[in-house]
Amino acid sequence: MLTLGIETSCDDTAAAVLKDCDSLLSSVISSQDQIHTRFGGVVPELASRTHLESIVPIVREALDRACVTLKDIDLISVTQGPGLIGSLLVGFSYAKALSYVTRIPLVGVDHMAGHLLAVFLEEDKPAFPYIALIVSGGTSSIYLARSHTSFSLLGRTRDDAAGEAFDKVAKLLGLPYPGGPRVSAEASSGNSAAIKFPRAWLGRSLSIHGSHVSSISGVRDPGPSMACASTTAVSLSAEEDSLDFSFSGLKTSVLNHCNQSRQAGIPLHIPDICASFQEAIVEVLVEKTVLAARKHNIQTIVLGGGVSANPRLRESMSKRCQQEEKALFVPRPSFCTDNGAMIALAGFYYARDAKTTSYDQDVYSRSQL
Ligand code: KG4
Repeated sequence: MLTLGIETSCDDTAAAVLKDCDSLLSSVISSQDQIHTRFGGVVPELASRTHLESIVPIVREALDRACVTLKDIDLISVTQGPGLIGSLLVGFSYAKALSYVTRIPLVGVDHMAGHLLAVFLEEDKPAFPYIALIVSGGTSSIYLARSHTSFSLLGRTRDDAAGEAFDKVAKLLGLPYPGGPRVSAEASSGNSAAIKFPRAWLGRSLSIHGSHVSSISGVRDPGPSMACASTTAVSLSAEEDSLDFSFSGLKTSVLNHCNQSRQAGIPLHIPDICASFQEAIVEVLVEKTVLAARKHNIQTIVLGGGVSANPRLRESMSKRCQQEEKALFVPRPSFCTDNGAMIALAGFYYARDAKTTSYDQDVYSRSQL
């Protein structure tokens, strides 16, 4: 069975041809980074216009590289949501039209299902159930995956996604878009303990170095509770701590640090700021994922989404998984960021469960998983 996967949820136009569930024949991605970099972030109108220009040549290239034609394709799988509505509409409308004229069955898949399953594009595949941390520019969520089509959301960001925080911090430091890889590159020569940025644990309490510390909360609306622990070992208690994330306070804290340094005439040390900021994000992502695995007694952890290309996150999660005797599965970086292969794979499993998409369906901006 050959599946054509089409992905246009944000700023990458991507298409891939997948044979059955494990043989990737082609994967083509057209990045719009050059277009958006001068604005410091994705401009939705420009993104959808650029998808319009790219979609036909990218799909053609994916078919050519796989040495197949549309006549060989058995299923068209396309991202239906979540994402930027204008961007999603280009891929979804194109896929609907292609399906209508060719009579190839169509399935619209949730972008998050693609990230949750991307690890199955690798040789080394996890067994179900597993805990998945999906971190990208649009989301930071923890799921319990029970099968290729059954996922339960355990926690998610209450404000900024981790990738969004990386991108916004990069922008305020004058680093170009997309910020994640730039911040990560700067961080590699910085000291992660140089600045004590806050960690939002969002729980009622946490233990640091074995002692119990109450986290700070407001009176009327507690909001995100914070605790500074940049160099200390933190272990979250299974009963008391939330699996939700919050990164907007951390971003504001970086901004305050920069403003205070400038006012005091102290030059900014970009590598130290990046390393300290990155460590604050990574520590929370790792500890909450491990907590989810402990709470649900799951032995396997999977990473997905653009931020899971971050070397420090991969290293830190790997270390913690070894300590906790959990198995860790991480796709290669090109399968972490948006791609058509994961959408083809998700579509394969949706279709296997007899899920189809009718032509009167529409795109959606919030994940339905
Ligand atoms: O999954 P993805 O390609 O697209 C979305 O669905 O958003 O993720 C893109 C996000 C961007 O915010 C980008 O800055 C971030 O992933 N990212 C990284 C790294 N590579 C990409 N963040 C931190 N470190 C990286 N190495």
